Parts: sequence; structure tokens; C-alpha cells
Amino acid sequence: MKILVLNGPNLNLLGVREPDHYGNSTYNDLVKLIKNHCKIKKIGVAIKQTNYEGKLVEMIQNARGKFDGIVINPAAYTHTSVAILDAVKAVNIPCVEVHISNVEEREDFRQVSYIRSACKKTITGKGFDGYLEAIDYLIENR
Ligand code: DQA
Repeated sequence: MKILVLNGPNLNLLGVREPDHYGNSTYNDLVKLIKNHCKIKKIGVAIKQTNYEGKLVEMIQNARGKFDGIVINPAAYTHTSVAILDAVKAVNIPCVEVHISNVEEREDFRQVSYIRSACKKTITGKGFDGYLEAIDYLIENR
């Protein structure tokens, strides 16, 4: 089994940006945590981050035939992107939406998720552990 983990804009600044929402650990820490988890679970993983919406669309499209599941934190594009929703629908790969912060308790504009309807599950407010829970969900429901 091989899982693709995608991270959207500003997540490269984890550890620096708004630690009250996202904690003090860095993007590199997140990558290490996910890699270690996937090693223990004996599955393959690729982890990517981009600040560009179109790149996320391409990464989702390119996952066809290569990955059995996608864990995606589209970050701000969660609340704006029909293109990312359409890409997830197009590839037909099981997808889990993850948010580090508890988006439900934040601003009104964060209450909308375009991608949610195309995802098997949404995990919010569990910090970096949310990614591991998403991976476990994809393994258990493969
Ligand atoms: C986020 C929540 C989004 O609202 C925000 O734009 C992000 C990160 C999260 O992981 O909590 O950049 O997706």
C-alpha cells in the first residue's frame, strides 16, 4: 500500500506561523513523524507541500495508478478551491481531509470546506496526530 500526503500553502512555515493554532513543531518534524509511522505500519508514503493551487491539482492527478490513498491538508485552499475538489473527484482515490487546528472553532470563512464532500473522512484539531489517524483510517479501510 502507498499513501500520498499533500500539504497546501503556508504549511512549510509550521513551527513559525501562529503557534497558538499550529504548535511549535516544524514541517520537517511533521515529515519525520509521518515517515516513522508509515515505516512501523509497513506501508509506502510520499509527502509533499506546495503553496500553489495548480500544483496541488497536478499532484492529485499524478497520483492515479501510483497511490492507494491520499491524506490532504489543503490549508487555505480548503475554503476556496473547486479545482482541488474536482481533482479529488476525478482520480477516484480514497481521500482523507486533515486540519491541524480546530477549524470548527475559528472564523466563519473556515467553516466551509469545498473538498469535504469528496473525502471519506475529515479530521480536525488533533495537531500532527491527525495525519497519523488519517493514514490508519486509509489502511483499515483499504
Ligand atoms: C489549516 C486550517 C486552514 O483554515 C488554514 O488556512 C491553514 C491550515 C489547518 O491545518 O488547521 O492554513 O488547514
